[in-house]
This record gives sequence, structure tokens and C-alpha cells, in this order.
Amino acid sequence: MKVSFKVNGKPTTVDVAADMPLLWILRDVLDLKGTKFGCGIAQCGACTVHVKGVATKSCQLPASRLAGADVVTIEGLTPDGGHALQQAWIQHDVPQCGYCQAGQIMSAAALLAKKPRPTDADIDSAMNGNLCRCGTYTRIRAAIHTAAGTATTDGAANGSRDE
Ligand code: FES
Ligand code: FES
Repeated sequence: MKVSFKVNGKPTTVDVAADMPLLWILRDVLDLKGTKFGCGIAQCGACTVHVKGVATKSCQLPASRLAGADVVTIEGLTPDGGHALQQAWIQHDVPQCGYCQAGQIMSAAALLAKKPRPTDADIDSAMNGNLCRCGTYTRIRAAIHTAAGTATTDGAANGSRDE
């Protein structure tokens, strides 16, 4: 089937099987490799992108449901990697192996768009669909607070003292 939607602001039409997941379309058809394949069953969050501004697991969204969608991937967050979250990620040296991090940043960006001053509880709840086998959760939380320009609410537990 042919389906037209926007990717990173650009109108795009692909001709793919109706059940092909968005993740495959992004990586294999459109060559946008920043979005990662982890589990393929909506359990890990590595494939998170924004669809109509909502953090969405692209491994479970078929082409048949994409018509007219507005998709933003990590490549489209900013033209130059200068998003406040990306800067905070560098400042806190968040990634370890890095594999989960594009998905983490996309979930965090959707959170900040909705809630510019999230609490620790907001962050934990928004990020709990994004797993990190390397265990970078503490730095992720601190970086989200930095990007939001907030002081952390529970002190040392979230590694914020180096801000
Ligand atoms: S690859 Fe989509 S949630 Fe794991
Ligand atoms: S940094 Fe390795 S899986 Fe998260």
C-alpha cells in the first residue's frame, strides 16, 4: 500500500506492506537509523518516536495506521543536536552503550513538551516504558531536570549534585 505522512516535517510517501511497522519504514525504507530496534514487541522503548507529539513505540505502529501522521524521530528533534535534552545528556554523560538513548530522549522530549517542570514522579512515570540495560536511569533523570531548568526534588538520590 501507498501511505503518505510527514517525517521530521517532510511530506513522505512510501509503498510498503500494510502491516510493516513504522520502525521498519524508518530504518529500512527511509534510512533513518537513529531509531533502534530492541524487542519488537513494545516492551523496551528503544524504538520510541513522536507521532502527533506523543511518544510512540514505532515497532508496533503498522503502515496501515500512518496516513496523515506527523512523525518526529531523533534526527528531527533539532537540525543540529542542540535540543536542551541533548545538551543535558552530554553534560551528564548519560549514555553508556548508547543503544537505548534515542528512545529515552524522545520519551523525555514528549514529557517536557507536555510538562515543562516535571517532578521525579512525573519523570519516572513518563520514562518507565524505556528500558536501559546499562542502568543509566539516575543520569537520565538528572539530565531531564537539567533540561527542564529545575532543581531536583529528592537530592542526592538522583545524582543532581554535579549540576
Ligand atoms: S523495539 Fe519497540 S519497544 Fe522494543
Ligand atoms: S545505555 Fe546501554 S542500554 Fe541504555
